[in-house]
Amino acid sequence: MALQNINPSGTAAWQELQRHFNEMQNASMKDLFASDKDRTEKFNIQWNDFIVDYSKNIISEKTLSLLQDLAKQAGLAGAIESYFAGDIINRTEGRAVLHTALRAPSNANVKVDDVNVMAEIYSVKNKMKQFCDAVIGGSQKGYTGKAFTDVVNIGIGGSDLGPAMVVESLKFYKNQLNVRFISNVDGDHVMESLKGLDPETTLFVIASKTFTTQETLTNAETARAWFLKTAKQEDVAKHFVAVSTNIQKVTEFGIDQNNIFPMWDWVGGRFSLWSAVGLTIALAVGFDNFDKLLKGANEMDNHFATAPHDKNIPVVLALLSIWYNNFFGAESEALIPYTQYLQKLAPYLQQGIMESNGKSVGRDGNDVNYQTGTIIWGEPGTNSQHAFFQLIHQGTKLIPTDFIGYIQPLHGNKDHHDKLMSNFFAQTEALLNGKTEAQVQAEFDRQGLAGDKADYLRPFKVFKGNKPTNTLLIKKLTPETLGSLVALYEHKIFVQGVIWNIFSYDQWGVELGKQLANSILDEINTGDVKAHDSSTTFLLKKFLGR
Ligand code: F6P
Repeated sequence: MALQNINPSGTAAWQELQRHFNEMQNASMKDLFASDKDRTEKFNIQWNDFIVDYSKNIISEKTLSLLQDLAKQAGLAGAIESYFAGDIINRTEGRAVLHTALRAPSNANVKVDDVNVMAEIYSVKNKMKQFCDAVIGGSQKGYTGKAFTDVVNIGIGGSDLGPAMVVESLKFYKNQLNVRFISNVDGDHVMESLKGLDPETTLFVIASKTFTTQETLTNAETARAWFLKTAKQEDVAKHFVAVSTNIQKVTEFGIDQNNIFPMWDWVGGRFSLWSAVGLTIALAVGFDNFDKLLKGANEMDNHFATAPHDKNIPVVLALLSIWYNNFFGAESEALIPYTQYLQKLAPYLQQGIMESNGKSVGRDGNDVNYQTGTIIWGEPGTNSQHAFFQLIHQGTKLIPTDFIGYIQPLHGNKDHHDKLMSNFFAQTEALLNGKTEAQVQAEFDRQGLAGDKADYLRPFKVFKGNKPTNTLLIKKLTPETLGSLVALYEHKIFVQGVIWNIFSYDQWGVELGKQLANSILDEINTGDVKAHDSSTTFLLKKFLGR
């Protein structure tokens, strides 16, 4: 079944939410906490190793119930069934959206065009396992008989961000292989990334779903030319492997048939880390850990597919985000992990969230008359506290923020972890409560500050607070919990796309830039600048003047 067409802003629930917003827009979370001692009990979900506390939001029970009505009126339950069943929900590209099948157990029954795809998925997983075991164990060798020491992943977008984020996040679980990522077509970046590598012991993984992406093909050719400075053409087979749906193009590039790890068009690029695009992850942390990552994601899939919507983490987080985006007019959301390991999570989710839901045409083909995709940004705490938190605390913009923290550190350094986590708890409390004039006055009294100076400083020292946050407190950063966390945000994207009545799994906006870049490259190559707007013509001529 295709996703149904709805205009969310025309639903009864939306109208009710609009009225309810008028009551809630000036509500004080502090008062809401004071008037209900069970607030946190009501507004948290505990699931597996996750505690999700969403009580520090500008919501009441009525808000949640109206948001749930909106989900119902938007047909969310049926949409979730279509998503997992492999229906063609990516209608503009005529494809199913089945990254969830990649982490399903082998006995699952997931059909594309009436064929169960699990056997194919597991055959590729077996091939990945054998290859990874051989490379990590040293039995798979380079052209001079030496074991591999370095892996270079060449890809862009989902073929880079996913593996790069997971390898960084699971660094603690890494083996001896050094891993690098080349994505940008910037030649300086490529040359920097190749510096210091030994061609005899370097393995290149070329990851491209389409194998037509300019950046990836250019970088792969440059890497091959670098390799051929010392090795021979026949040695390429031992050092270059590819992940792609486009077997013909990979073969034309000169990669051996045996070195191709296939994927399928029903895996979106930005959701592909669970497919063979995760080969570099499996090389870096071992196939068993990669499999645990998939298992954690599958557990979140089951939670999302079966938990009642008021106890369903992705659904609740998606609805809260809609509350701020569509009613409070929030322009962005921040994501702050209190672990350095997750430093690439926000950039990774920027593609997932903004490429998926950055759409302004509804599923009915008409322009939407409400806000869609949120802007997402963030950096690890505590670094972010010393960088941009000032604006979240005292700026004019409302920035709902997700805080992600872990109960146990990985290296067991209690002193550091307690300091880190005290900041984690302190920030959400400070964002909730702010600092009242009375508290500022008490501070002045303690400091002996009075008179004109105190009067002058007082307004700057008052924090209004009332800034919404979600707290995700997770037991420990493991492959499983990381898998669950990433899947959580994937499903949040899905829920929002369903309710906003947009197609979350295409990306035509990116295609336009690609086409234009190709025609401008022709003009640069020939020196023949065609008709553009005057600004582009001026800049191109300056560039060609070099
Ligand atoms: O950015 C557009 C996009 O199509 C992404 O969706 C994708 O992850 C990326 O380009 C790379 O595409 P490919 O894996 O086909 O090289």
